[in-house]
Amino acid sequence: MPWKRPETVPYPNVWWTFEAPDPDREDGALVTYRVEDLTEDRFEDAIKLYTEHFLDDEPMCAFGRIRHNPLSYEEIVQFWHYILNEKITIVCYKEGSKEIVGANLLSVKMASDKADLSDLIKSKDMQILVAANEYMTDTVNLFERYGVDKYLTAYGLSVNTRYRGRGIATEILKARRPICRAFGLRLTSTNFTAIGSQKPAAKIGFQTDLEMP
Ligand SMILES: CC(C)(COP(=O)(O)OP(=O)(O)OC[C@H]1O[C@@H](n2cnc3c(N)ncnc32)[C@H](O)[C@@H]1OP(=O)(O)O)[C@@H](O)C(=O)NCCC(=O)NCCS
Repeated sequence: MPWKRPETVPYPNVWWTFEAPDPDREDGALVTYRVEDLTEDRFEDAIKLYTEHFLDDEPMCAFGRIRHNPLSYEEIVQFWHYILNEKITIVCYKEGSKEIVGANLLSVKMASDKADLSDLIKSKDMQILVAANEYMTDTVNLFERYGVDKYLTAYGLSVNTRYRGRGIATEILKARRPICRAFGLRLTSTNFTAIGSQKPAAKIGFQTDLEMP
């Protein structure tokens, strides 16, 4: 059985607030941002964030030229929708604005769920991307290594280009702690595939189990 968000956890919930510079202010003043559950009415806007501010920048998608193969492109968008439907993806807003500043596609992986993506993924480029990710995950074997039957994982951290370099990805990652606590998850793990996410992850205490050039 795939994981289902328990109704006992309020939805949508604000998980984290922080202050960071506002790109719309020349004086570099700090403004408040909040990290909260993505709601269904913003699913399409979140997909837009990923097509416009992730696909060409995230190293594995860029290298796999996912945008340039219509089938791969369709499959990755479908995959993102599949993850959004789990209703645990988080999004970052600047206080007083509806613009999506950043997001993290979250998912709960369960040892008992043998989900098979082969029905969803037919294109060669996407199969390679999925296989590389699965290879990393299987090599580490988080369930055995940490003695857990489920953990919080992620399929993409994205910050709108306009907002980058302000510590926003680092703050979005900090929301993992309250989220794990609320859902009773003892572990979170991610295949961080860019230097720009590896640095924030290390900064807030993620431990490296596997490194692959
Ligand atoms: C990666 C990404 C989420 C980072 O967002 P951000 O809000 O700019 O990140 P932060 O400001 O919190 O931190 C980024 C850190 O990485 C560093 N960094 C970013 N790109 C770098 C590069 N090419 N080389 C070296 N360091 C780099 C920054 O200097 C910063 O470190 P610092 O705080 O010590 O200065 C954003 O660039 C993005 O959306 N990229 C496209 C999608 C992607 O690759 N996602 C990650 C896949 S898991």
